[in-house]
Amino acid sequence: MTTDTTVKPVTAATLARAKRDDHKMIWLTAYDAASARLADEAGADVLLVGDSLGMVCLGYDSTIPVTLEEMIHHTAAVVRGRRRAWVVCDLPFGTYQLSPEQAFGNAVRVLQQSACDAVKLEGGEHMAATIRFLSERGIAVVAHIGLTPQSVKKFGSYGRRGKSADERAQLLKDAQAVCEAGAVALVLENIPHDLASEITANAGVPTVGIGAGPDCDAQVLVWHDLLGLSDTNPPFAPAYTNARQVFADAISRWGDDVRQGRFPG
Ligand code: KIV
Repeated sequence: MTTDTTVKPVTAATLARAKRDDHKMIWLTAYDAASARLADEAGADVLLVGDSLGMVCLGYDSTIPVTLEEMIHHTAAVVRGRRRAWVVCDLPFGTYQLSPEQAFGNAVRVLQQSACDAVKLEGGEHMAATIRFLSERGIAVVAHIGLTPQSVKKFGSYGRRGKSADERAQLLKDAQAVCEAGAVALVLENIPHDLASEITANAGVPTVGIGAGPDCDAQVLVWHDLLGLSDTNPPFAPAYTNARQVFADAISRWGDDVRQGRFPG
């Protein structure tokens, strides 16, 4: 919760204004209060508690096992750490696809129990009715199309989407459907750059790219990828530092100091 009255919190209206003013917004994933505080102070506008949580923090081999309780637990921590950023929580697999009512019930739990600002769900045209149901009831919904990791078992890989003419046409329909349904932002993951560009030009809401080229209204990266903490990075997510090495060096030097009797001094 922002208690400092000198800090102007980011809201859904800020995102809409940024698109209108052609001002790029910075989204970054976060999973705990300390990293949320750090990212917020470093200028991230939106903190996404992605269900990538399952893979980068909880040791699962996909996002599929992530539970609503886990998302709420980590999102509440991120909310406690932020001062200015808008916080979005992923609805995990199986908690929204059954019906608009199921999605509404679980989105309400997330919003009430974590105090975050918005929920994100994966899917295009087929999720439009659910997005409309939530939006009409006052919930800010971020849609996510293109590579949708919760469907990895169906597609068999995390590869690029939208390469064939049919897939491309479907993604254009997906983008239009979720925007018309009331999504406040649209994540485009791992799709051809010219397709993301076309979607961004036509979308009434900000697009947030990850592996979708430079023309999206915002960019998002996973914390562990950006900071060099992942085992391997996707080709579209370069590490900006090698935090793994920095951390390992510190732990190893401290261990040596303890073993050699130099710590505590
Ligand atoms: O789960 C996640 O971190 C995400 C981003 C990669 C967009 O959905």
